[in-house]
Amino acid sequence: MVVYLDHAATTPVRSEVIEAYASAMATVGNPASIHGPGQQARRLLEEARERVAATLGCDPIELVFTSGGTESINLALKGLYWHRQQDRRRAAVLAPAGEHHATLDTVEWLERHEGASPLWIPLDDLGRVSLDTAAERFADHGPDIAVATALWANNEVGTIQPVVRLAALAAAAAVPFHLDAVSAYGHLPIDLADLRAASGSVGASGLVALSVSAHKIGGPVGIGALVVSRAAVVEPLQHGGGQQRGLRSGTQDVAAAVGFAVAAELMALERTAEQERLGTLRDRLVAGVRATVPEAELTGDPSERLASNANFVFPGAQGDSMLFLLDLAGVAVSTGSACQAGTVACPARDGTPGDGGPIGPADHAGSDDDRDGRGRLPPGPAARVRTGESGRFRRPRHGAGRSSLSSRPVTACGWPSGGWRVDLPGESSGSDEWRSRLRRGSGTRRRRRP
Ligand SMILES: Cc1ncc(COP(=O)(O)O)c(C=O)c1O
Repeated sequence: MVVYLDHAATTPVRSEVIEAYASAMATVGNPASIHGPGQQARRLLEEARERVAATLGCDPIELVFTSGGTESINLALKGLYWHRQQDRRRAAVLAPAGEHHATLDTVEWLERHEGASPLWIPLDDLGRVSLDTAAERFADHGPDIAVATALWANNEVGTIQPVVRLAALAAAAAVPFHLDAVSAYGHLPIDLADLRAASGSVGASGLVALSVSAHKIGGPVGIGALVVSRAAVVEPLQHGGGQQRGLRSGTQDVAAAVGFAVAAELMALERTAEQERLGTLRDRLVAGVRATVPEAELTGDPSERLASNANFVFPGAQGDSMLFLLDLAGVAVSTGSACQAGTVACPARDGTPGDGGPIGPADHAGSDDDRDGRGRLPPGPAARVRTGESGRFRRPRHGAGRSSLSSRPVTACGWPSGGWRVDLPGESSGSDEWRSRLRRGSGTRRRRRP
């Protein structure tokens, strides 16, 4: 039996979602058509929009369905950036250093193609954004900042950021602020109206946009949303039929929207109790890992963190090796964002091998034994990677060797181009690497592992 602990990468689709999705798929009609079947599809779609919007505290008209979190973030950052160039040039884009690649790469793209100037905010040892530095950046560059963005809860180490205070700084500087709420959705209460009020966001200043994704809450892959406050103007990325207020042209996916709505409603109903339960299980898992591997270091903020997240550094052990051996032991974890699978995104986005990874994000599927990995880390993998017993693994050839691994979540985004690698112990600097990356913050972007 596989113990699936990689819910930060994606969650199992709930049976209620599959049922609703399949039923909506069986109906015909383009929601933009004016005949009966088209109007029936439109009803389903708009009801779904209302149901998802209710879980985000926004008006349905403010909710734009996208293909997922990545598109949502691209639309927000590029769209706000472009709009802010219209009356005068504003080149700066403010973002914390530990963002998801959907943000990092979008900011880099804006830098390369649009002449944007990134203003990175460093994180501290616990993965927390420095509010002092953020305040300085807003004070020094405010009028030139086109858009600011932040990740609400770090998807790798679980640290929850002071986003209301960040949004308040943006509001005071009259800068539009976008929130990547992909990993917070389902775990933290989200209410756009409340967040705007609490942060003093008014009109197009302060919190104006928020990204979420359905597959993180038991919904289908391939749908997410960008919530855009009415007062904000976002330039579209794609042009065509003018659907969704012209912000996202293209025929809308009714079945996916219905599936998203079902997942969102169930999540909203269960969230409070579920987070309590997950927090208890997470604590058991942490205690179990520490009992098995006393030198294991829990990264991220010990208290201000997602209830579903446990991320460890195992000094002297390679993250890749741990992941591989845990996978063989039937425990699915990750060493960073799934879209960086095999590239060891955490704690080493800059190209050096890392040695940690979240073990234990868990959600609504599977037994409690699944959820805390039976409260313990199988001792074998940790010991084997430290002693070097694991040796150097090569990328499996396509065929039997590959299929046994490729069915697991860590391989969801493919193998690293350089092949699967396990380094012998002693080649990485352990938690020091993670810490130095957090401090780097304002520096230029990390190079990816080739
Ligand atoms: C924090 C965060 N932002 C954005 C994304 C991208 O979302 P999607 O996979 O829906 O494109 C992810 C997915 O892992 C994420 O964790």
